[in-house]
Amino acid sequence: MKRRWWKECVVYQIYPRSFLDCNGDGIGDLRGIIAKLDYLKLLGVDVVWLSPIYKSPGDDGGYDISDYCEINADFGAMADWEEMLGQMHDRGIRLLMDLVANHTSDEHPWFIESRKSRDNPYRDYYIWRPGKEGREPNNWASCFGGSAWQLDHVTGEYYLHLFSKKQPDLNWENPRLREEIYRIMRWWLDKGIDGFRLDVINMISKMPGFPDAPVVSDERYQWGGQYFIQGPRLVEYLREMRQQVLSKYDVFTVGETPGVTTEHAVDITHEEAGSLNMVFQFEHMDLAPRDVLAKAGKWHVGPWDLLELKQVMTRWQKELEGKGWNSFYLSNHDQPRSVSRFGDDGGHRVESAKMLATFLHMLHGTPYVYQGEEIGMTNVRFESIDDYRDIETLRFYREWVGQRGADRSEMMAAIQAKSRDNARTPMQWSAGANAGFTTGKPWIKVNPNYSQINVEQAQADPGSVFHYYRRLIELRRKHPIMVYGSYELLLAAHEQIYAFLRTLHNEQWLVILNFTEDVPVFALPSTIAFSQHELVISNYPTDSREDPRSFELRPYEVRVYRLVGG
Ligand code: GLC
Ligand code: CA
Repeated sequence: MKRRWWKECVVYQIYPRSFLDCNGDGIGDLRGIIAKLDYLKLLGVDVVWLSPIYKSPGDDGGYDISDYCEINADFGAMADWEEMLGQMHDRGIRLLMDLVANHTSDEHPWFIESRKSRDNPYRDYYIWRPGKEGREPNNWASCFGGSAWQLDHVTGEYYLHLFSKKQPDLNWENPRLREEIYRIMRWWLDKGIDGFRLDVINMISKMPGFPDAPVVSDERYQWGGQYFIQGPRLVEYLREMRQQVLSKYDVFTVGETPGVTTEHAVDITHEEAGSLNMVFQFEHMDLAPRDVLAKAGKWHVGPWDLLELKQVMTRWQKELEGKGWNSFYLSNHDQPRSVSRFGDDGGHRVESAKMLATFLHMLHGTPYVYQGEEIGMTNVRFESIDDYRDIETLRFYREWVGQRGADRSEMMAAIQAKSRDNARTPMQWSAGANAGFTTGKPWIKVNPNYSQINVEQAQADPGSVFHYYRRLIELRRKHPIMVYGSYELLLAAHEQIYAFLRTLHNEQWLVILNFTEDVPVFALPSTIAFSQHELVISNYPTDSREDPRSFELRPYEVRVYRLVGG
């Protein structure tokens, strides 16, 4: 495996609307980011991925872009952005922009033109079809519920929107459209950015003919993913993008790829033949029995299975090894908070957040830290639907509680566990008013636990989650084994402990994670021999002389050992 900077870095994701507000309008902004660059430097991250800051009506948190080359006035001006980039680079921090190229806003000038007439020069920038027997062109469901097609009265045709109806899908079959996207990419790269996160990039190629999705339930609209995830021309488009744009720059790319398999991921991220550096896979976000998933989709609540997590992660680790490259995240702006989901956000919040942080940094791949994760921020659990802002959450509530009469408290429980707003409440900077996020009225309420969980507190406490992240990031910088070491699962059938080995040349690290509040006994398989050991990091006070071959783990305890003399 070749050494590459994008393998060695740690990425920090900023959701700008919720990061820090500097002008008191209740909305995080670019000046807020500038003000916190020293904080990021102290944390030690090398790369920032910025969720979209382009001009947008904000139907889907900025993932609905109306001008790719302008800054949303809520966030500031282009001059602020330029200053931000300069200040990042001064500190050795690189910037990834979020490229949303599967769709635009319906307020993008291309779409405004496109909908005007069937022979408008921009008509073919989007996907228009006539209806079928007075109904939509096919039965596909949108990812946010309802049909994926919207009838437009101007021409009497439907346009495709895999997300909201204010997010019409672009037509990648059209070479002129593809050239426009490449032009936009070059424009940002020439301004000095260091790469892109590519939003739902494996959905850009749709099956010609737009066949109906198989009917698997009595719902009116059905999941048609098999006809647009990893579609027939995806690999070709990505190769063209690489050839036309990416190959000309020293650039970092990560594709967001829902439903991606390890096979696809190898195709996309292959060291020689691939087009992107890495992808975000979703299997560890969907841990649940198949029938549960089929019924409730992302909104299912309930326990998840550590054995399944191990199987999923191990498959990704092994199948990409020596071929492609893994990325790894436990949370982002679309997911609940990791400590609430995979740890314990009550009594063992600090220990379990540290355990998860260790897991994140010790796997073979590039780690992504989501804002607030580094202080162990938790899910929010608003009681009233009126406190939620996310389009997906509000649609879900309206459809199930409003239209279908589902049990309100059950639906609220699902929302409290899974809503994207869990990750979008403001960053908790201090115990002051509004967690120090804004002097105004925040666009979404602050999590009431900010008086205990906040950056000021975390910085002052040497035992905090924050300082633990700092140590992990520093370790990663010093020890190539964390980046390049191969991975081997141990104790595959253990129901509380996730243990694995990392190996590089003659160095070996043993990672032992207790994913429960129980106190299981760890016993190292006798095939693993060593004469000396060294404790690399742990989330509890630990006597480093204790023999790692066998010991009792405390709740959510993690230990990492370096084994010598095997
Ligand atoms: C991605 C984004 C998500 C957005 C969707 C549509 O999944 O991460 O926030 O809603 O794409 O752009
Ligand atoms: Ca602001």
